Amino acid sequence: MSCMKALSMNAHPSLVIGEPIETQHAAAQPEAMVRFENISKTYPAYRGKPGVSALRAIDFTIARGSITGVIGRSGAGKSSLVRLINGLEKPSAGRVVVDNSDISALTGRELRLAQRSIGMIFQHFNLLSSRTAADNIALPLEIAGWSKANIRARVTELLALVGIADKHDRYPSELSGGQKQRVGIARALATRPSVLLSDEATSALDPQTTRAILDLLANINRALGVTIVLITHEMSVVRQLAKEVVVLDAGHLVESGHVADIFTHPKHPVTQSFLAEVTGDSLPVSLASRIVQEPGNHAVIRVQVRGAGAGDTLIARLARELGLDVSLLSARIDEIGGQHVGSLVLGIPGGDSAAARTLVWLSQHQVSTERLGYVA
Ligand SMILES: Nc1ncnc2c1ncn2[C@@H]1O[C@H](COP(=O)(O)OP(=O)(O)OP(=O)(O)O)[C@@H](O)[C@H]1O
Ligand SMILES: [Mg+2]
Repeated sequence: MSCMKALSMNAHPSLVIGEPIETQHAAAQPEAMVRFENISKTYPAYRGKPGVSALRAIDFTIARGSITGVIGRSGAGKSSLVRLINGLEKPSAGRVVVDNSDISALTGRELRLAQRSIGMIFQHFNLLSSRTAADNIALPLEIAGWSKANIRARVTELLALVGIADKHDRYPSELSGGQKQRVGIARALATRPSVLLSDEATSALDPQTTRAILDLLANINRALGVTIVLITHEMSVVRQLAKEVVVLDAGHLVESGHVADIFTHPKHPVTQSFLAEVTGDSLPVSLASRIVQEPGNHAVIRVQVRGAGAGDTLIARLARELGLDVSLLSARIDEIGGQHVGSLVLGIPGGDSAAARTLVWLSQHQVSTERLGYVA
């Protein structure tokens, strides 16, 4: 990252004029765990196939101890991004700094040592079928040269941590998908990494098992302080686990921020379409079946608000300031990234001009809105 860019992106009240900018930047952001500094990744042309520009000018920071979701459509560059974090791929331009060390510059033994502090879990678990659960978890410790006694003790501890102490001697073929992923998580944590990368780790699991694995990851983040980077194409996974979210599209970072902000104010069309997946089905059937597109008595508007109680205040003010008899047709409150986010469906009487005034008022109050139609 150029000095100018560091300064402009991280404007900080404690900046002291006259000090070297790099020092000030480091002091302003002591908590960075992963820093992408103007990264591009191009896979070269190969056997007549053209080269692929997978990531372009990516610049962002992942805070130490955070859980960050990386979301994007297939081919957006998500896996390329995580492979840069653990040094499996090198950037074509820029640097990836992990735990204050430039992993993109490391090779050989230095790289392998750095990789011990970066664990990874996968969609298809990647367990060795010829090894028991315990022996799969032991593998990275064997490679790191641990003694047999230390390995035995650590594996027992890890099996208990992921909640499958009784599966010590089971082979992968004898385990459910959720149990296999628990083995994968224990193996990834074996060498006490400071970063855990998850590439679609719940995509092969049913919703209930997904929830249990995401809960486990949240507990691990809390108990061990491990920074988690979560790649997924499911916004529901981001909603349940992440605090920060980064949206990739065709190799570009198109949006990033706090999950509750992104959920209430999605700016980019890709983010909006991802959100439609998780919010689109939230209307009660009895209401959804009454909504029509031909003008009727009440315009139906969905709004998203942040903070417990924010919805009550908003409706009361809207009704008072516009002199409208607003009705609340449906309400739902979720906890997203540790914040309450309410999705309220309002009925606005008084025809299209009242609906238009309502939309203007809501946008002036920075509330994201969606017109759903009319009810009789
Ligand atoms: N080893 C490789 N060689 C050449 N091209 C690659 C390689 N890996 C990925 N790509 C290309 O880079 C682009 C980004 O791929 P990537 O796997 O990072 O996407 P993704 O967001 O993880 O997609 P998915 O959701 O399908 O896993 C794609 O166009 C892909 O075809
Ligand atoms: Mg991928």
